[in-house]
Amino acid sequence: MDLFRLKSLLFLLFFIGRCRGQDILPEGPLDAVKTKDSGDYSINVISADGDTKTAEIKLRVLEPVSDVVIKSDLTEAIEHNSTVVLTCSAKGSLLTFTWTNGTTPIVADGKRLTLKNEQMSSTLTIAGVLRSDLVGPICCTAANKLEKEKSAPFNLTVYYGPDEGQHAKTKRTIPSPGVSFGVMEPITGAKMTGPVATLIAGNSTANLSCQVMTGTVKTRSWLKDGKPLSANSRLVFADDLSSIMINPLQKEDNGVYQCQLINPVTSAEASYKMVVNYGPEPATVTGESEVELDTKVTLTCSAASVPPANFTWKFNGTMTAVKTSQYIIDKAVYSNSGTYTCEAHNAVTGKTSKPVTHTLAVKGKRNLTSS
Ligand SMILES: *[C@@H]1O[C@H](CO)[C@@H](O)[C@H](O)[C@H]1NC(C)=O
Ligand SMILES: *[C@@H]1O[C@H](CO)[C@@H](O)[C@H](O)[C@H]1NC(C)=O
Ligand SMILES: *[C@@H]1O[C@H](CO)[C@@H](O)[C@H](O)[C@H]1NC(C)=O
Ligand SMILES: *[C@@H]1O[C@H](CO)[C@@H](O)[C@H](O)[C@H]1NC(C)=O
Ligand SMILES: *[C@@H]1O[C@H](CO)[C@@H](O)[C@H](O)[C@H]1NC(C)=O
Ligand SMILES: *[C@@H]1O[C@H](CO)[C@@H](O)[C@H](O)[C@H]1NC(C)=O
Ligand SMILES: *[C@@H]1O[C@H](CO)[C@@H](O)[C@H](O)[C@H]1NC(C)=O
Ligand SMILES: *[C@@H]1O[C@H](CO)[C@@H](O)[C@H](O)[C@H]1NC(C)=O
Repeated sequence: MDLFRLKSLLFLLFFIGRCRGQDILPEGPLDAVKTKDSGDYSINVISADGDTKTAEIKLRVLEPVSDVVIKSDLTEAIEHNSTVVLTCSAKGSLLTFTWTNGTTPIVADGKRLTLKNEQMSSTLTIAGVLRSDLVGPICCTAANKLEKEKSAPFNLTVYYGPDEGQHAKTKRTIPSPGVSFGVMEPITGAKMTGPVATLIAGNSTANLSCQVMTGTVKTRSWLKDGKPLSANSRLVFADDLSSIMINPLQKEDNGVYQCQLINPVTSAEASYKMVVNYGPEPATVTGESEVELDTKVTLTCSAASVPPANFTWKFNGTMTAVKTSQYIIDKAVYSNSGTYTCEAHNAVTGKTSKPVTHTLAVKGKRNLTSS
């Protein structure tokens, strides 16, 4: 029964009912039927001669079909690699969904194409999407017994690398009714450049810049020693993340900087090892304070420094010939007792540490404090 006939019938029933001076429909005329009006109706028609006739109507009110839309789980896809899941949804009662590719209905092939129908939606899954898959254009139609409605054509950008044989200059976008294709050049020649001059902590500034030879970079990220790099009071990122500036450099800026570059068809990375010269920081001396006659003594002076510091040693205030971080006495004699002073020096930063002293006593076996 179509809606027009249904409305006419209901009007007629209402009219008869009123003629007889009694309500036959519980809520008055059903001129704007709603889903909730669905149900079984019965009517008793009493003719002039007193005959009673009973009629029954099963009333099923369908919601009209509306809001048929296709949504994609991806806004951009990569040819061959992306699985695109299209969901068609609509409003209405007792819906059935069909998908069309141009004028051809889409049928699941059980491999690349799968279809799943549910009560209010239908899902089309395209694995390893191809440029040619979506040019149809792809539309979805939702229908019930009353009517049907078709969605707008589905749009998606599918990126694909340049076809073989074509030059990199093929970058372009081809609009088409249902889908646009972006040729995404692969990223090549990724390179990070940084300062070439000698860098001194507290004095120098560094600009690191990450460039590519070809390709449009969609995402850039920066790492230092494998960890994400973040901005701070000394480090600022360029708005497009193509470079960073550190001013002034400090010793903690030493390390390997990496930039990672991504576009839908490639990813690339480049790195730069930053050497920030600093120090020497305050020196320390470790080693024995008291040794037995004839034993070996090793005094070690250390001070954090880039490049590693050079050292000088004084004994009882007199410069010695020792220039290494270790002062070694193979067989201690009494005259080795005294005060050892170490200084660390970095010719690159021009800095010298404060002198640090260590006292050594060489004793006979019986006089050792430990025995
Ligand atoms: C749509 O039709 C085109 C051309 O016939 C075909 O190459 C493509 O695979 C079809 N797409 C789907 C999703 O069926
Ligand atoms: C697809 O793109 C066309 C042109 O840009 C637009 O008119 C149409 O509404 C889009 N369709 C959908 C489903 O987004
Ligand atoms: C770093 O880049 C900024 C901005 O481009 C520039 O002003 C500055 O001079 C550069 N510094 C160095 C050390 O190259
Ligand atoms: C596409 O998939 C292939 C095979 O899994 C992989 O080698 C390639 O790197 C992928 N390309 C992109 C752009 O993700
Ligand atoms: C070094 O100084 C210490 C302490 O003042 C003294 O005992 C020792 O004899 C001195 N040694 C030499 C070789 O001057
Ligand atoms: C250590 O001394 C050597 C030789 O004089 C010099 O070449 C080097 O630059 C010095 N290193 C430092 C950190 O001062
Ligand atoms: C640090 O910068 C100051 C001022 O520009 C300069 O005088 C000094 O020589 C620099 N120090 C080093 C170690 O380069
Ligand atoms: C041991 O100590 C005593 C008393 O301090 C001193 O007279 C003696 O010379 C010392 N002997 C040695 C071997 O150092």
